Formats: sequence, C-alpha cells, structure tokens
Amino acid sequence: MDQSSATILIIGAGFAGVWAALGAAAKLDKSPRNSRDVQVILVAPEPTLYIRPQFYQADVSNAKADLTDLFKAVGVQFIAGSVQRIAKDENAVEYTSPNNSTHTLHYDRLVLATGSKVHRPPIPGLAEFAHSNDQYDEVKVLDKHLQGLASLPDSATRNTVVVCGGGFTGIETAAEMPQRLRDILGQDASIRVVVVERAADIGPELGPGPRPVIIEALSTLGVEIVTNETVSGVDAEGVTTASGLRIPSKTVIWTGGIRASVLTEQIPGEKDALGRIIVDESLRVPGLRNVFATGDTAYAATDDEGHIALLSCQHALMLGRYAGYNAAADLLGEPTKTYRQPVYVTCLDLGPWGAVLTTGWDRVVSGLTAAEAKVKKILINTKLIYPPPATDRVFALGEARPEIAYEAQVFATEG
Ligand SMILES: Cc1cc2nc3c(=O)[nH]c(=O)nc-3n(C[C@H](O)[C@H](O)[C@H](O)COP(=O)(O)OP(=O)(O)OC[C@H]3O[C@@H](n4cnc5c(N)ncnc54)[C@H](O)[C@@H]3O)c2cc1C
Ligand SMILES: *[C@@H]1O[C@H](CO)[C@@H](O)[C@H](O)[C@H]1NC(C)=O
Ligand SMILES: *[C@@H]1O[C@H](CO)[C@@H](O)[C@H](O)[C@H]1NC(C)=O
Ligand SMILES: *[C@@H]1O[C@H](CO)[C@@H](O)[C@H](O)[C@H]1NC(C)=O
Repeated sequence: MDQSSATILIIGAGFAGVWAALGAAAKLDKSPRNSRDVQVILVAPEPTLYIRPQFYQADVSNAKADLTDLFKAVGVQFIAGSVQRIAKDENAVEYTSPNNSTHTLHYDRLVLATGSKVHRPPIPGLAEFAHSNDQYDEVKVLDKHLQGLASLPDSATRNTVVVCGGGFTGIETAAEMPQRLRDILGQDASIRVVVVERAADIGPELGPGPRPVIIEALSTLGVEIVTNETVSGVDAEGVTTASGLRIPSKTVIWTGGIRASVLTEQIPGEKDALGRIIVDESLRVPGLRNVFATGDTAYAATDDEGHIALLSCQHALMLGRYAGYNAAADLLGEPTKTYRQPVYVTCLDLGPWGAVLTTGWDRVVSGLTAAEAKVKKILINTKLIYPPPATDRVFALGEARPEIAYEAQVFATEG
C-alpha cells in the first residue's frame, strides 16, 4: 500500500468508527487542495456495521449493514484485520489479517474506535454456562440454544430463563423472553422468566423516572424481578446467589455490565472504572497529540454540567463524527471542535408491552403511550442508527458533520 501520503487511521467499524471515517472524509472533502495526499484507512475484522442495539431480539438477520460500497463512495480505504498492538512511539499499529498474517500500518492521526464487550467477572461457571447477547455470534448461539429447548423433555428447569443483570440490556432481553419461549415451547407452556439484579432496584442506572413503567411492563409480561441478589454461581442446571437463592434453569443470560475494548490498555493515561480513556474536549488522548479515542472507548464530557457520555450508540454516533472531523482538521492544521451533545433521550424496549421514552439526564418519562414509544424504538433501531446509503455520496458526507443532531430526529420524525 502507498504510505507516502498522510494517513488518518481508524480502528473499528462500529457506530463510532464508521462515523469517524465519514466525518474525516467529510472534513477532507471541504479542503480538497490541502487534503489531496491524505488517505483515510479503517481497519476492522469485517466491513460490517453490527447493530448491537437490536441484539436483545430473537431475529437479528437484519442487524448488520455492509459498508463496502459506502466506504468506496466516500473514498475510505477498508482493511480487514484485527489490531493487536498500538506502537505509539512509532506511530504504527500491528494487525492480523483474516489469514493470520501480521502487518504494520503507519498513521499520522489515529482514532481508536474499538468499542466494548460484555464483561464477565470470575463467577464460578459463568464463562462455561452463561449466554450473552452482546456480540452477533453470541446472539446466534443463544437463539440456537433456545430453539434446542423444544427437543428436551418438559420440565421447570427447561422452561425457565434467568437474566443476570437488571440494567438496560437485561430489561430489554427479559421483556422479549416470555413470548420468545412460548413461540418455541408452545403457547400453553408453563414458562418462567426471572431477572436477577444486585442493586435494590431494577434498572439502577436508569433512575427512578422510568422505573414504575418498567415494573408495570415486566409484571404484565409475567417477568419476575429479583433484586438485592448477587449471582455467585452458574451451572448447567441453574443460578445460585450469594444469599443462597437457587433458580433452576437451562438458560442463563449474563448482561451484568460492559467494558471498553482491551486495546485501551495499550494507551497510557487515566481510565474510568469501565476502562475508557479519559479524553479532552476534542476527544484527544491527553499527552498523545496525534491519537483520538471515541465511542465506547472514550470517557468524554457531553456538556458543561458534568454529564459524561455513556457506552451507548446514541453517544458513539456523535463521538465518531467529532473524532473523525478533529483528526482531519488537526492534520490539516485547522482548529478542532469541542465535542458537545447536550440532548439526551432514552428509549427502552419493553417487548410486546411497548416501550418507554424518556428525555433529559433526569430521564423524565415522555407523554408518549407504550405503543407510541414502541414506534420510536423501532424507528431508531431499524432506521436512524443505520449508515447512510452508499448511492448518495453528498448526502453521506453531509450527515457526517458534527453539527447534525441525531436525537432531534427521534422527535422530528413521525413514526
Ligand atoms: C443488547 C444491546 C442493546 C443495546 N441497546 C442500546 C440502546 O438502546 N441505545 C444505545 O444508545 N446503545 C445501546 N447499546 C450500546 C451500543 O450498542 C454500543 O454503545 C455501541 O455499539 C458502541 O459503538 P462503538 O462504535 O463505540 O463500538 P462497537 O459497536 O462495539 O464497535 C466496535 C468495532 O471495533 C471493532 N474492533 C474491536 N476490537 C478490534 C481490534 N482489536 N482491531 C480492529 N477492530 C476491532 C469491532 O469489530 C467493531 O467493528 C446496546 C448494546 C447491546 C449489546
Ligand atoms: C488463524 O488462527 C486461528 C487461531 O489460531 C485458527 O483457528 C484459524 O484456523 C487460522 N486461520 C487461517 C486462515 O489460518
Ligand atoms: C494474507 O492476507 C494478506 C492481506 O490480504 C495478503 O497480503 C497476504 O499475501 C496473505 N498471505 C497468505 C499466506 O495468503
Ligand atoms: C433491598 O435492600 C435494601 C437495603 O438493604 C432494602 O431497603 C430493600 O427493602 C430491599 N429490597 C428488596 C426488594 O428486598
């Protein structure tokens, strides 16, 4: 590959990486004379955007988008590979190709966008016996397992699903499960779905705003909520908690928290409890002037009131745009932009019951009914967070400007 020109290198093809690539391409497009020799390269295992926010559902066949044509349309070069090492002193990364050969790539500006993964603490049996729905392959394995239950003899253990973790993902996963189990085991099957949460309340991080709605929805759906219980063991036949509670189950799903990509460990400097790199207002890594971190790998202020971006698609979509813009602007010797994303909404799927939409960091429940919120959720999950079409380069670059407000579309678009 020609590496005589200047390179903006982006690692990761999630929401943040894709929008960083588009954001950098859009900025370079605005300064064609200065950016003639600048190339944008994105390295990730596949040219695919996986739509992780859909992964709590049964059918994920449409939960991915091919990026090949989009990258071609905007002039982003895609390299298939998994980065193993960031050699920051040499301004280079080492990656492994799908055929296991290793290669080195040099960069002038680096954007780390390798996202996050579910974190499995060292609870006995968790690694061997618990499912997750954090990555595409895990979702497929879980679905195959659930389908396989139908061929086992009827028993309470077979008919029970335990979701460990009552946060955002745990709630969405549990709310789908009664219907999903009945579709597999028969509409008359005597099924049981239990959410086990360590905190005193379901949805501890969602706060008190949406909680009454969550409790009403789960109770209507027949999902049991068990709080104040810490999972201490998992085996092929169920879950045990620290207090000695035993829930027999053939299907245990772990949703107990996510952590930033392990590549963040190769970047020196301060991290938060989730392993995110504490970046400055340009999303630059303090002390490393040509390295930016974005999406779930970045701990960044969203406003001047102390709010911090969450490990969320909502934030990754905008963090990506800013990181890409700033990497390109910085390379061209132009000022960077301060990342700001003051508007915050939450849209939580509550299965066949509907959904709940909240606004602001206090998470005030919007006036929408469960069914109206569900329309918004479907719009977000199946449309608003997808990449732009490859057929319209100008539109794609226009959408990549940091000024675009993603949240406004949630409210503006009629379902
Ligand atoms: C079930 C579920 C439901 C969710 N629901 C919501 C929701 O309702 N709203 C919301 O806002 N968020 C939601 N999220 C969170 C959201 O999906 C993440 O915050 C978002 O995907 C983060 O985007 P990202 O680009 O930072 O990282 P990711 O989407 O994790 O992408 C990371 C990319 O980096 C690549 N990569 C990783 N390591 C390497 C490496 N070493 N070398 C090269 N490439 C690498 C990966 O292959 C991938 O392409 C949900 C997540 C899950 C799992
Ligand atoms: C690459 O290495 C992995 C793990 O060592 C192995 O499973 C895989 O078969 C290898 N692939 C190729 C193409 O050699
Ligand atoms: C492996 O893939 C790389 C990148 O596509 C290629 O350059 C290299 O020739 C391949 N090596 C082998 C042994 O096939
Ligand atoms: C959970 O624990 C807290 C604090 O010990 C207690 O106040 C609360 O009543 C408990 N809730 C349940 C449902 O047991």
